[in-house]
Amino acid sequence: MPRLPSALPRLIPPPRLLTAIAHLQHHHPSSHLPRTSSHFQQQQRNVARALSTAAPAKPATEAPVGRTERARRAVFYVPGSDDRKLAKSRKLVADSLIYDLEDSVPLNRKGAARNAVFQALEQFDVGKSEKTVRINAVGSGLEVDDLSVVLRSRHVGALVVPKVQSPKDLEFVSRMIDSIAPEASRANIRVLACIESALGVLNIRDIANADARIDGLIFAAEDFAADTGLVRTPSRTEFLYARQRVATAASAFGLQAIDMVCVDYQNPDVLEEECREGREWGFTGKQAIHPNQLETIQRIFSPSPSDIERATKIVEGYQEHMKKGIGAFNLDGKMIDMPVVKWAERLLAKAKMMNEQSA
Ligand code: COA
Ligand code: MG
Repeated sequence: MPRLPSALPRLIPPPRLLTAIAHLQHHHPSSHLPRTSSHFQQQQRNVARALSTAAPAKPATEAPVGRTERARRAVFYVPGSDDRKLAKSRKLVADSLIYDLEDSVPLNRKGAARNAVFQALEQFDVGKSEKTVRINAVGSGLEVDDLSVVLRSRHVGALVVPKVQSPKDLEFVSRMIDSIAPEASRANIRVLACIESALGVLNIRDIANADARIDGLIFAAEDFAADTGLVRTPSRTEFLYARQRVATAASAFGLQAIDMVCVDYQNPDVLEEECREGREWGFTGKQAIHPNQLETIQRIFSPSPSDIERATKIVEGYQEHMKKGIGAFNLDGKMIDMPVVKWAERLLAKAKMMNEQSA
């Protein structure tokens, strides 16, 4: 059994970690940071001073990173403080499992949850599912300890960063990955940024473009409602602007867009409707909180057999008409031209990628 890194937060940090910590102290002075020697504290102050006068920080990612082609249709939260649910996660089919250290874990269980999640990362066989961890928000005072524990595992596929307000939050997380994660797995760790405040929605362009590790944007409706004071309605119209902005920003930067949780988890009709709406708006996946949501989400965010059949007819029809010098043609009473062909090609590429992922 791997040794738990219980002493990790008290280690003397290497230089790159110092830089990350200095960055955090500069932007989030309230964070509770690991204790260091006075020599290192002086160094941190020097680095913080240097950072405050330097040009805006560039992403510090050292290893070459590229966008993954991994589908994330259902991304499923598993509370890190619930042993029964953690164990259950081994038997569930979801593209991504999010072992949660944030809002499903009470304050007095944060330490135990970190250790339980570390064990889940190290030991659980979850088949083709991706293992991800939602840390506590940058600036919460808990994030350094979260990262110091979970990043010791080689099995972190992605970090989910909640309550992202500015690109600096993600620059910090990426520096911590460079500082702490094992060299062999460092380059493969991706980041998913949660947009759950009015400021996050306003800053989304900079957030989406903050770091090469970012794979996707997640919209979190409940925190957004708490932040803005909007009134929740069954129509979800109150989220229209924020959700469409998230989906559009994700598309602009080639990222995945992961839609809100359906909290009405015992009502399959509401889930089905939310999934269809999200997919029609350009979301590529959806957060899930209960096992009974997984099949619907995985299915609706995959191209259906009829989508694939139609897309194939469009592409083949276009190639035939091209040979005759015709760019626009009729297929089953609808006009097909280049944008429709591009849409069809994109859908077929996505279907191929998802097939390969589940093969
Ligand atoms: N992860 C793993 N297993 C889960 C699960 C989850 N998120 N939600 C439910 N289960 C399991 C239960 O443990 C139970 O397993 P068992 O039959 O072996 O006992 C089974 O699925 C059925 O669960 P059920 O009894 O219907 O639900 P519950 O009352 O135990 O829990 C919730 C309901 C909403 C509290 C629970 O689904 C949950 O905690 N979801 C995640 C919440 C979360 O992470 N929120 C933060 C992100 S928004
Ligand atoms: Mg939240």
